[in-house]
Amino acid sequence: MLFKNKAKDTRKLVQSGNASLVLGTDLEVEKQIKMIHLTEEDLEIAKALQPFVEKNLAVLVERFYQNLENQPSLLHIINDHSSITRLKQTLTVHISEMFAGVINSHYFEKRKRIAHVHVKIGLQTKWYMCAFQDLLLSLITIIEESLTDREEIFQSVRSVTKILNLEQQLVLE
Ligand code: HEM
Repeated sequence: MLFKNKAKDTRKLVQSGNASLVLGTDLEVEKQIKMIHLTEEDLEIAKALQPFVEKNLAVLVERFYQNLENQPSLLHIINDHSSITRLKQTLTVHISEMFAGVINSHYFEKRKRIAHVHVKIGLQTKWYMCAFQDLLLSLITIIEESLTDREEIFQSVRSVTKILNLEQQLVLE
């Protein structure tokens, strides 16, 4: 079980206290987070999901790059600026970190850097969003295959969509 029942109707994460949401002084980001209802509890859930994600990460990353083959120009961009082998490693680390349950200044700086890198290589928003949707579907499959409790599954999907939404807001800004 991902969650344990502390009282009859209070669900508590197995390892609560692992997550942290540190916003700093950016009031606009604070509003963005508020408007998608992302809370520390979502980060706790992400952290609880991390082992399941890590177990399936190699397959997820493989599928991610296979999907890019639908648009050969993306492979050209990758080969001009990096390599699939290198980016597979980068993405593996990045997705694992997305489930670390921590949002802090380092988190925001990294998203700024990713945005900058993607602009520099000329990655169009529509392809980034296609890749992101593929990522979301893979994560939903992992949740579906790893958990059995219906409420836990829905709660996990809700948290993951919030985390991915914030990432898109920051990277596409
Ligand atoms: C770099 C994530 C989509 C091409 C990166 C980096 C990350 C990342 C974490 C490293 C940034 C750094 O230096 O710190 C993602 C995520 C994506 C996504 C999460 C969507 C879910 C794409 C797509 C392409 C792409 C669709 C296709 C062209 C690249 C390239 C670099 C890069 C070529 C390296 C550029 C360089 O080193 O100069 N990406 N990416 N990315 N990404 Fe993406």
